[in-house]
This record gives sequence, structure tokens and C-alpha cells, in this order.
Amino acid sequence: MMPSAPLPRACWTSFISLLLVCCLLPPGTQGQEFQLRVEPQNPVVPAGESLLVNCSIDCPSAELISLETSLLKESVGSGLSWAAFHLSNVTGDTQLLCSGFCNGSQMIGFSNITVYRFPERVELAPLPPWQPVDERLILRCMVSGGAPRDHLTVVLLREEKELGRQPAGKGEPAEVTVTVLATRDDHGANFSCCTELDLQSQGLGLYQNSSAPRKLRTFAMPMTLPRLVVPRFSEVETSWTVDCTLDGLFPASEAQVQLALGDQMLNATVVSHSDTLTATATAKAEQEGTQEIVCNVTLGGESRETRENVKAYSFQGPNLTLREPNATEGTTVTVTCAAGPRVQVTLDGVPAAAPGQPAHLQLNATAKDDRRTFFCNATLEVHGVILHRNRSVQLRVLYGPKIDRAKCPQRLTWKERTMHILQCQARGNPNPKLQCLQEGSMFKVPVGIPFLVRLNHSGTYYCQAASSRGTDILTVMMDVQDRNPIAITIVLAVLTILGLVILVAASVYVFGVQKRRDIYYVRQSSTRLPLAPKQPDEAVAVELS
Ligand SMILES: *[C@@H]1O[C@H](CO)[C@@H](O)[C@H](O)[C@H]1NC(C)=O
Ligand SMILES: *[C@@H]1O[C@H](CO)[C@@H](O)[C@H](O)[C@H]1NC(C)=O
Ligand SMILES: *[C@@H]1O[C@H](CO)[C@@H](O)[C@H](O)[C@H]1NC(C)=O
Ligand SMILES: *[C@@H]1O[C@H](CO)[C@@H](O)[C@H](O)[C@H]1NC(C)=O
Ligand SMILES: *[C@@H]1O[C@H](CO)[C@@H](O)[C@H](O)[C@H]1NC(C)=O
Ligand SMILES: *[C@@H]1O[C@H](CO)[C@@H](O)[C@H](O)[C@H]1NC(C)=O
Ligand SMILES: *[C@@H]1O[C@H](CO)[C@@H](O)[C@H](O)[C@H]1NC(C)=O
Ligand SMILES: *[C@@H]1O[C@H](CO)[C@@H](O)[C@H](O)[C@H]1NC(C)=O
Ligand SMILES: *[C@@H]1O[C@H](CO)[C@@H](O)[C@H](O)[C@H]1NC(C)=O
Ligand SMILES: *[C@@H]1O[C@H](CO)[C@@H](O)[C@H](O)[C@H]1NC(C)=O
Ligand SMILES: *[C@@H]1O[C@H](CO)[C@@H](O)[C@H](O)[C@H]1NC(C)=O
Ligand SMILES: *[C@@H]1O[C@H](CO)[C@@H](O)[C@H](O)[C@H]1NC(C)=O
Repeated sequence: MMPSAPLPRACWTSFISLLLVCCLLPPGTQGQEFQLRVEPQNPVVPAGESLLVNCSIDCPSAELISLETSLLKESVGSGLSWAAFHLSNVTGDTQLLCSGFCNGSQMIGFSNITVYRFPERVELAPLPPWQPVDERLILRCMVSGGAPRDHLTVVLLREEKELGRQPAGKGEPAEVTVTVLATRDDHGANFSCCTELDLQSQGLGLYQNSSAPRKLRTFAMPMTLPRLVVPRFSEVETSWTVDCTLDGLFPASEAQVQLALGDQMLNATVVSHSDTLTATATAKAEQEGTQEIVCNVTLGGESRETRENVKAYSFQGPNLTLREPNATEGTTVTVTCAAGPRVQVTLDGVPAAAPGQPAHLQLNATAKDDRRTFFCNATLEVHGVILHRNRSVQLRVLYGPKIDRAKCPQRLTWKERTMHILQCQARGNPNPKLQCLQEGSMFKVPVGIPFLVRLNHSGTYYCQAASSRGTDILTVMMDVQDRNPIAITIVLAVLTILGLVILVAASVYVFGVQKRRDIYYVRQSSTRLPLAPKQPDEAVAVELS
């Protein structure tokens, strides 16, 4: 019972009164059968409440009943064997002592007041902004206030699930921790803690106080670096695609990607699909030289970065030009192929004097050069790699018209009533118009297409090729022959014989008459006369035509 440590003033007063009771008034054994009751016995009260305490002795001759306490007390009444007190502002645990006398002997009784109060603050310590998956996470709960502490338990929760519980302990604030392994499923989960003040054994309830929930964000960042796909070479002012991909990210949709060309940020389109993140952008180098492309993926405060070099070059041209795209036959044509610095051009197989220099070609335009194509091949060496670029241009030469003598026979002998083609061609640029007209009749014979040859096609033709550049005339003689001369001979022979027969018959008649007149003539020479060769061809031909 003897306190070893210095006691607070409240304790001193009760200690002194106890001394008074024990030393000045030695306890008698006479009142042993009587009891001094302190009501309520060991009450548990909310902090700050007031309490009515009743000290009573079941002794008929009780006297001098008093209450010893450090609390403010006020007598609210007394009876033959009791005395009641009002204790206000009960803020801490305390012991009450009642004493009294019965039949001359002193009696004492005790009651311990237990004060309970809810915690003023229950708080889950802030979670890390990003928690790596598969690493240990310490959840810490801080509890301020709350009494009695030996009835106070702290519970740590993930959503509704209990992760652990521990008694609050004596510290102020009390701190309780639990360690868990963070998983992907914990991403976005609410964590909290709560206190349980269990006063059920005191006939009271179970009181819970909860902290505000805190949302956990977990992440997984691979050790691998982003895969950056860019062209090795790019032409100045030409756009190309930058592609950056990183696998094994969780949660991929919350990762941030930065794509930059040098110190210029690119406008990236980011797509995430399960654990893969892809960023795409278009970039364009504005000047020659080596440019650096940076892809930086950041998640949970960690970042992974990949850098690639793009060599930007300027490849101007080649510009392949003709001084006059439509040159007149006989004039001088100049072909020029020019390209930018360091570009080597080769015009129709002839290289320019030096890289960067233009290549020229001069020629006298001939009909053969019409539609001639000139090629210019340009090469540029960029960091040991040779780049090619080709151009071509077509020359048009204005010439003609010219009828091709070789392809247009000037003398034709055809049989009548047969199909033939008058093969004549005229060349020229612009394309000449070719027509063949019969001399005299101005009859037009088809050129280049089959036609039925008739006798009246015979004759001399003037074939004329005409274009804006002039005309060319070629004379073609066409001789159309009778289709079947033998048949005509037979017909002629028959006609001759028929004529002969008629002549003979006529002669017989005439001579018969003359004989009677006594005149006789020579026959042979006269019979021969009508048989003299004739020219019936034309007459027959006209008939047939
Ligand atoms: C105190 O207790 C006694 C005996 O039990 C009772 O008679 C008396 O009424 C009580 N007084 C008060 C104020 O409750
Ligand atoms: C109750 O007691 C506490 C200290 O024990 C004191 O601060 C407070 O003012 C008191 N309240 C009343 C109403 O007396
Ligand atoms: C009181 O004490 C006297 C002697 O001291 C005894 O005779 C008497 O019986 C006691 N009274 C009661 C009620 O116990
Ligand atoms: C009151 O508490 C003390 C210790 O603090 C204990 O020894 C005593 O037995 C208690 N009294 C009652 C009536 O429970
Ligand atoms: C987490 O707590 C917040 C705030 O109380 C609430 O809005 C949200 O729905 C909770 N989330 C889950 C998954 O329970
Ligand atoms: C603690 O819980 C009790 C009931 O369980 C409630 O009356 C009290 O206001 C709570 N305290 C705080 C700080 O929320
Ligand atoms: C970035 O791209 C989006 C569409 O891809 C476009 O709407 C936006 O204007 C661009 N912003 C800039 C600064 O180029
Ligand atoms: C990646 O970008 C983040 C955010 O802009 C930056 O903090 C970080 O330093 C960058 N990483 C590197 C390696 O430059
Ligand atoms: C060149 O001639 C063609 C016809 O042969 C014509 O269509 C074109 O317009 C001409 N071009 C020039 C530049 O004169
Ligand atoms: C090629 O032609 C374009 C347009 O006519 C011109 O802007 C450019 O400078 C030329 N390039 C060279 C190498 O001559
Ligand atoms: C073009 O013709 C002229 C004469 O008409 C001649 O002197 C010149 O050498 C010719 N040029 C070429 C490239 O053939
Ligand atoms: C030059 O370009 C043409 C096409 O424009 C190509 O047919 C030829 O092979 C090229 N020559 C060389 C040497 O590259």
C-alpha cells in the first residue's frame, strides 16, 4: 500500500485520511459482522460525468460516515446509516474510500471509479503515393485519447477485411502497425483502421471509432527499357513516325509517356492495352545533323528512358529540266540536272564534275529524239549510307510531217475485187493527218484499212500528210487488173465463133443470090477481116463494174 514515488496532491489527501483512519482509530473487531457498502461498486463512467455515491452501513448505530476522495464532493443527504455524495466532473480513474463507525468500531469500504472515453483521433498514417507491387507495406494506425486503454483494441482493415488487431497500449498517441505484401489487387483499395472499446464486461457496449479510408495505389515497373522505333535517317522537313512501347507495366493506363525530339516535346498518342503501353507521334527534323529522340515512361515516381539518334539530312532535288519541253527539230536542246549540296548527279550516265554541281546535256533535236527520256540519278552519302533518287523527263520534238517512203509503196498492182490495205504512214509531231486522193476524180482511198479493190481504183494518187508544221506529198500509182482474163478470152472466142457463123450464113445467102446473078467472089480474105483483134476489155469492165 505504501507509495514509493511522489504522489500527486489528490493522492496525498486520501493517503493522509487513510493514515488518520488506520493510526488514530485502531480497527476494532466488534463491527466485523457489519458491512460498509459503497454504491456503486467500481463504476465505469463516461469522462466528465457526475456521480452519486452512497456509503451505507447496515449497522443500527452507525455514525460519522464520510467519503474520502480527491474529487469535488457535495453531500446530498444522509440517513441513519447512510450518507450520499455528489461527485462532479469525473475525469480520471480514482479510488473512493468510505468510512464510518458502528458500535464504536471503524469500518471502511472502497470503490474504484473507472472513467471511459472514446478516442479523439483514429487515423491511418498516409500511404505512400505509389506502392510497388510485391513489396512490404507497413500500415500504421495512430490513436489519440481513448480510455481505458486496456479495453481498447486497434484493428487494421482493407475494405471490410481485417488485416490485424492489437491492443492500443499505453502510448500517447498509441501506434499500431501491421505489415502486408502489396498486390496488384490492392490498387485502388481502401485501407483504414478502427478502434474497439470493449466495455461489455462492465455491462456497457462495444464502441467503435473508424479512421477515414485511404486509397492505395500500387504499381509495377519493369526493369527493361522502352522499345523506341525511329528511322535511322530522316530527311529535313519530312515527317516520320516515332513509336515507343513498354511491356509489363501496371497499371499501364496510369503511366505517363514523354516523347521528345531534342528539347522539343512531341504530341504523342498513348494507347494502353493490358500491361503494354504504346506511344506514337510524328516528328520532323528542321535542320541537318544528329537529332536525339527521347522516350520517357513514368509510373509510380519511377521512370524508364530510352534515347535514339536520328540523322537528319537534306537531299534537295534532283531537278531535271529541259529548257524547252517542246523543241523544234534542228534546234539545240539543253537538259540540266541540278541537286542540292553534296548530291552527286548523273545525267544519262554522265556524272557531273563534282558533288553539288549540276550536269548538262546538249543535243540537236531530231525527229528521233521525240519522246526520248532523259534520266538523272542522284546519290547522297549520309553517314556511310548511300541514298538514291531518280528523276526522268521526256523531250518532245516538233517535226514533220513526213511520209515514210519505205513503208508506203509508190507502185501498186492489184487484182480487182480483192481486199487490200494501202499501207502508208506519216510521222510527225504534232501527229499529221494523212489522206490519199485520186488524181482527177479526187476520189479518197482509205489508208491503213482494208478495202475492196475495184477497177476504177486504178490511177494516180496524191497522198498528203498535213500538220500545223506543213505538208508532205507522195505520189502512188495504183494499177488494178482484171480479175479473170481467161474467162473473158473464152467469152470473146465464143462471140467470135458466133459472129463467124453468122457471117458464113450471111455470106452463103448473099453468094447464093449472086451466083444466080453469075457473080462469084474470093472468100478467104473477107472471112478473116472480122476476126481482127478487138479491145473489148473496157466495155466488159464497165459492164462488170
Ligand atoms: C443510500 O443507501 C441506503 C441503504 O441502502 C438507502 O436506504 C438510501 O435511500 C440511499 N440513499 C440514496 C440517496 O440513494
Ligand atoms: C473538470 O476537471 C478538469 C480537470 O480535471 C478541468 O479542466 C475542467 O475545467 C473541469 N470541468 C468542470 C465543469 O468543472
Ligand atoms: C455493542 O457492544 C457492546 C459491548 O461493547 C455489546 O455488548 C453489544 O452487544 C454490541 N451491540 C451490537 C448491536 O452488536
Ligand atoms: C481498487 O483498485 C486497487 C488497485 O488500483 C485494488 O487493489 C483494489 O482491490 C480495488 N478495489 C476494489 C473494490 O475493486
Ligand atoms: C473508398 O473510399 C471512398 C471514400 O470513402 C469511397 O468513395 C470509395 O467508394 C471507396 N472505394 C472502395 C473500392 O470501396
Ligand atoms: C466514437 O464512437 C462513438 C460511438 O461508438 C461516438 O459516439 C463518438 O462520437 C465517436 N468519436 C469520434 C471522434 O468519432
Ligand atoms: C496533338 O494531337 C491532337 C490529336 O492527335 C490534336 O488534336 C492536338 O491539336 C495536337 N496538339 C498539338 C499541340 O499539336
Ligand atoms: C522522365 O520524365 C520525368 C517526368 O517528366 C522526369 O521527372 C524524369 O527525370 C525523366 N527521366 C529521365 C531519366 O530524364
Ligand atoms: C507540247 O506539245 C504538246 C503536244 O505535242 C502540247 O500538248 C503541250 O501543251 C506542249 N507544251 C508546251 C509547253 O508547249
Ligand atoms: C528545284 O526546284 C525547286 C522548285 O522549282 C526549287 O525551289 C529548288 O531550289 C530547286 N533545287 C535545286 C537543287 O535546284
Ligand atoms: C548541232 O548542229 C550544229 C550545226 O548545225 C553543230 O555545229 C553542232 O555541233 C551540233 N551539236 C551537236 C551536239 O550535235
Ligand atoms: C537511274 O534511274 C533510272 C530510273 O529513273 C534507273 O532505271 C537506272 O537504273 C538508274 N541508274 C543508276 C545507275 O542508278
